[in-house]
Amino acid sequence: MKITVLNGSPKGKKSATIHYVHYIQKRFPHHELNIIDISQRINRIDRDENAFREIIDHIDSSDGVLWATPVYVTLVPSQFKRFIELAFERGAATAFKDKYAAVLVTSIHFFDHTACNYLASVCEDLGMKYVGSFSPDMYDLIRTKERQRLVGFAEDSFTAVENRRPTARQFAPIVYNPITYEPGDGSRPIDPGDKKILVVTDGMQRGPNLAGMIDRFKRSFSRDIEVVSLSDIDIKGGCLGCCQCGLDGVCAYDGKDGYIDFYNSKVKTADILVFAGEIRDRYLSWKWKQFFDRRFFHTHIPSLMGKQVGFIISGPLSQVPNLRQIFDAYSEWEQANLVDCVTDEYDSSSTIDDLLQGVAERLVRCADRRYVRPETFLGHGGRKIFRDDIWGRLRFAFQVDHNYYKRHGLYDFPQKRYKMRFFNWKMMLLTRIPAVRKAFPDRTVDEMIRPHQNVIRDMDKE
Ligand SMILES: Cc1cc2nc3c(=O)[nH]c(=O)nc-3n(C[C@H](O)[C@H](O)[C@H](O)COP(=O)(O)O)c2cc1C
Repeated sequence: MKITVLNGSPKGKKSATIHYVHYIQKRFPHHELNIIDISQRINRIDRDENAFREIIDHIDSSDGVLWATPVYVTLVPSQFKRFIELAFERGAATAFKDKYAAVLVTSIHFFDHTACNYLASVCEDLGMKYVGSFSPDMYDLIRTKERQRLVGFAEDSFTAVENRRPTARQFAPIVYNPITYEPGDGSRPIDPGDKKILVVTDGMQRGPNLAGMIDRFKRSFSRDIEVVSLSDIDIKGGCLGCCQCGLDGVCAYDGKDGYIDFYNSKVKTADILVFAGEIRDRYLSWKWKQFFDRRFFHTHIPSLMGKQVGFIISGPLSQVPNLRQIFDAYSEWEQANLVDCVTDEYDSSSTIDDLLQGVAERLVRCADRRYVRPETFLGHGGRKIFRDDIWGRLRFAFQVDHNYYKRHGLYDFPQKRYKMRFFNWKMMLLTRIPAVRKAFPDRTVDEMIRPHQNVIRDMDKE
């Protein structure tokens, strides 16, 4: 069987992910696995139609495709994203159609599920028969049990192709027929005071709606606000995954392009940040992905603490909950407050006007109150994953993060809470007494709400 492996790692042959593929290759020598480095060669693939066609021909003549990629910022690297866009743009979908597809992503399990969902839905949109994904930790390959799992995944995927196994669709096809948005007057301009408001767009719009929405949003304010297009910033390329930033906070692109200066001087200094873009396949554009990937120069340190964030989206966001989750997760681990996402999925321009006016008002109000809503599992769980890895195996590579986490109390492991440990020790002893055990259920419910009752009781003293 002939399988085309599309390598999404910008590190090409030095990729950890591709070593999982080498392991499969050695275990299943009777199958032919042809690895094509996509992300590392993306500029050439983008520029040179022949290079692109060569890859498509490979796919066309193979029995299946393995998408093998690292997770970069909750998705795939921007370079891989660009390739996916090219596949749609250059009418190459027919080569993918009805091909079997599997997904292999490596990561540290921080939003690896959103990357898997993304690739699965893209496969299905390309008409492929998606058989499943495998998402190991980047170092799982060194563990015997995990290698056995990898063999299980490969065997199952090969069998699916050999037996032409029917595949169930996981993500409904997108149906999106937007109105042509015609912005209204914006008659209630609000005064944002001295707050710095920045709208960032990718400048790659294809439809008219996004520009109209940005224009209407701007007119919600009583003074001019800044709009910056990523296309006007000199960004030389996507994140290379070299992790040079981890040692001393210096990115490989430092002094070579305008990204870091833009991020530090504009994005980090804004009080209110609005990201505006069109949905392209099941995410925003590759340009937007490049923006989020390059933010990695700030490593695992939150960079938008206390800021108000909004999204203005042209596209079917309500049909791509995976993307909405990425927006929520991004805002939460940046410790910002996602106020709302406004889209053009409505059947009247005036509804969109009202939503844009509403989000503008709420952004200002939330900034006035310095309101940041509590983290959900997305931010809370994500932070713990970073905490454990920065404290542990990633410490030497991300010394910048380690120092920051230490200084800012992010190493909040429960091990150091001696009072709590003593309390638990005492209570565990007590619960060995039969009478205490018997009273346990009733007492526990009462004790659980005792601190809350105290707060309510003492409210007048606040
Ligand atoms: C820019 C960048 C972004 C990353 N983002 C994530 C992420 O969002 N979630 C995660 O679990 N790991 C993330 N990682 C870790 C990589 O996914 C992981 O190291 C992967 O195994 C690297 O594979 P490769 O060597 O094939 O490129 C990121 C690494 C880099 C360099």
